[in-house]
Amino acid sequence: MRTQVCIIGGGPAGLLLSQLLHRAGIDTVILERRARDYVLSRIRAGVLEWGTVEMLRKAGVGARMDAEGYVHGGVYLSAQNRGFRIDFDALVNKRVMVYGQTEVTHDLYDARDAMGGVIIDEAEGVTPHDLDADAPYVTYLKDGTEHRIDCDFVAGCDGFHGVSRQTIPDSVLRTYERVYPFGWLGVLSETRPADDELIYANHERGFALCSMRNMNLSRYYIQVPLDHEVAQWSDDAFWDELRRRIPQDVAETLDTGPSVEKSIAPLRSFVAEPMKWGRLFLVGDAAHIVPPTGAKGLNLAVSDVHYLYEGLKAHYADGESEGVERYSERALARVWKSTRFSWWMTTMLHRFPDQSAFDQRIQESELAYLESSEAARRALAENYVGLPY
Ligand code: APR
Ligand code: PHB
Repeated sequence: MRTQVCIIGGGPAGLLLSQLLHRAGIDTVILERRARDYVLSRIRAGVLEWGTVEMLRKAGVGARMDAEGYVHGGVYLSAQNRGFRIDFDALVNKRVMVYGQTEVTHDLYDARDAMGGVIIDEAEGVTPHDLDADAPYVTYLKDGTEHRIDCDFVAGCDGFHGVSRQTIPDSVLRTYERVYPFGWLGVLSETRPADDELIYANHERGFALCSMRNMNLSRYYIQVPLDHEVAQWSDDAFWDELRRRIPQDVAETLDTGPSVEKSIAPLRSFVAEPMKWGRLFLVGDAAHIVPPTGAKGLNLAVSDVHYLYEGLKAHYADGESEGVERYSERALARVWKSTRFSWWMTTMLHRFPDQSAFDQRIQESELAYLESSEAARRALAENYVGLPY
């Protein structure tokens, strides 16, 4: 088989890149390790930057998002039992869309099917070859038979645990990482959301977040120690701890119910450089991981896709190579700014195990400064809604 761009990974990054390239007349094949149902069963975050909203609309997959998503003009932060609002509209004249990543992935798969996109799932042993030559190819096993795909470029959209990043020589690859000493215990419940907008709460007992999927489906998180397991957290224990950490007036009216999903996720910041090696491009989680505090994971994958799509479109349409050659430089510039913001939100809002009373006061003063300074709130707002591409 031959294609122009072989995409490894059928998550949001791979699907969106394939959809955009196909609409530009560029052939792609997606090789996905898992079965589609498995990919679609993943519960992920739910805040879309406006740049992501526009990219999904440009890809022709924005209809259900526009019909079912919730446009939010602000977000609440709280500390010491008091909350204040970051007014995106007033500060930066931009908003965010609350719409689950799982739904985005569903919409992308539906659009790929509608266009006859080639997605090979349950592809095993996917291996890129000759990436530093002009004629790369990718091999994989399907139903016990080895297959080969010759291509012009390989897009590594295979996430943090994928194969693509590992094919970049150690002499070339540089990685930067910070692992946080806590995790997030997340609960999905068929309950009314705690408030109309999200609430990020700093508390001396630990961080908490009130989010949502729709008016009858809420998503909550509390910070927990790394050695905690889901089994030790009953629903009642979760709700009791959440109520301790969020503003009292919200806690008093919190609608609780059985968890329909409950899981613990670790937090890390990770960036791999370069994001291009020969004919291989790293895209999304394959190149970077952010702690979910800034809601940047999916949104960074989308901005990577933007840079790569524009570069490949210019390459095939006009023979221009600058976009392809400068992909890593351009993508990393935005990746690092979002990595900084996600680190800053995480450091400001969580309780660190070795944190002193002084550290807690510094966090509280950071939040007090945000509450009192329009300039500080504007800086947070422009990062949260998404920096320009
Ligand atoms: N071969 C083929 N497919 C692979 C391989 C492999 N060796 N390794 C991983 N994959 C697939 C995974 O099964 C997954 O479906 O690549 C896909 C990667 O998707 P994601 O991990 O969702 O990463 P990405 O598309 O970059 O999206 C980033 O998703 O994980 C969240 O928090 C993250 O919101 C962010 C977004
Ligand atoms: C979510 O709704 O899952 C969510 C929202 C905002 C975040 C992280 C997760 O920062």
